[in-house]
Amino acid sequence: MTKNIHPIFDRLLQRKDREKRLGQKSKVLWLTGLSGSGKSTIAQALERRLYNEGYFPQVLDGDNIRSGINNNLGFSIEDRAENIRRIAEVSKLYVNSGIITINSFVSPTIAIRQTAKEIIGADNFIEVFINTPLEICEARDVKGLYKKARKGEIKGFTGIDSPYEAPPNPDINVPTEHKSIEESAGMIYDYLLPLILVE
Ligand code: ADX
Repeated sequence: MTKNIHPIFDRLLQRKDREKRLGQKSKVLWLTGLSGSGKSTIAQALERRLYNEGYFPQVLDGDNIRSGINNNLGFSIEDRAENIRRIAEVSKLYVNSGIITINSFVSPTIAIRQTAKEIIGADNFIEVFINTPLEICEARDVKGLYKKARKGEIKGFTGIDSPYEAPPNPDINVPTEHKSIEESAGMIYDYLLPLILVE
């Protein structure tokens, strides 16, 4: 019977083929940190730098995910878990397309990030802690959300009345307090570069 089976496996394009075409190995950088910690700004600076150096990166953040594929989700712990699960599944597709994905999500609990890592695969997953203390995020309050959360106008805000569990052992720890955006992005770039080089 087996001789009547015609596996198409060898005709399918493989991740390796796409990586070769793009001149990079694909990875998922997973930036976690409080709201206002600088995740998305750093992600965008890193994306620009990788692009300028000839690589093919893609940022995923709340702006493109929560306004589209996840526009039916809120900020309960269950919805956040579903938010992250879908993002992880999308990232997994990107990995197989050879793309370097830069994810910027609060992803507030160790369990949520563990799920993402399992979906994406530990070998593809780089956990980056955008390590900005709550006092600084709150003092900056770029979106005015901390003020609202303190007044009780937003319930379940991360760091105020919803937990944020810092990663105990991130692959990259980026303490942003005394760093420029470029320096923070540079720390991630320097770590990533040897991992994306194709022989
Ligand atoms: S996550 O917890 O599910 O990973 P995500 O990164 O997608 O969160 O979205 C966080 C952004 O949504 C924050 O930067 C902030 O602008 C906004 N936001 C609105 N409500 C909340 C809330 N209750 N907690 C945290 N962020 C919130």
